[in-house]
Amino acid sequence: MIEHPGFVVWFTGLSGAGKTTLALALENDLRARGMRVERLDGDTVRQSLTRDLGFSKEDRDKNIERVTFVAKLLSRNNVAVLAAFISPYRAMRDHARRETGHFVEVFVDAPLEVCVARDTKGLYAKAFAGLIPNFTGVNDPYEPPENPDIHIRTDHEPVEAAARRVLACLIERGYVPDGG
Ligand code: ADX
Repeated sequence: MIEHPGFVVWFTGLSGAGKTTLALALENDLRARGMRVERLDGDTVRQSLTRDLGFSKEDRDKNIERVTFVAKLLSRNNVAVLAAFISPYRAMRDHARRETGHFVEVFVDAPLEVCVARDTKGLYAKAFAGLIPNFTGVNDPYEPPENPDIHIRTDHEPVEAAARRVLACLIERGYVPDGG
């Protein structure tokens, strides 16, 4: 296996915007190129590493802090890390960027109405019914990236095209070898 520098692709966006779907597509592309990949995803990480945390600002910050720590360890050992978290606070995303070095921020953007219409997990219906406090986009803030490396409108761009765009950026930066 050829050694490549590690890097972190950080997917941020509302619940239901398509972070996991895009990260999965990119994971397949990178594995097909023989790269070592780890995907860290809010939905699974919150059942293990950060199981003890809720969704207050303080807990979300701790969630991102721990994930950043893991991403740092992996990426410095030449692993391609795909991190998919709502990560609503700019300051914590900037923290992840500073800590991990080779870092690409991908804004996975879909209007709230689109996420609500998709309601893939049925959580928006519950949040609007007042059953979930601090639900991002409903009754909790989301600070959109001001200057993301890549901005994807998932309601306009098919996932394959979006994944190709992220891959092209990784190749351009020299994180992923060209060809193949
Ligand atoms: S983050 O804000 O700390 O980055 P993270 O991405 O780990 O969030 O987890 C988000 C997932 O937790 C959502 O996709 C959703 O399935 C679930 N969830 C449960 N409660 C909430 C909430 N109050 N706000 C947002 N997501 C929630």
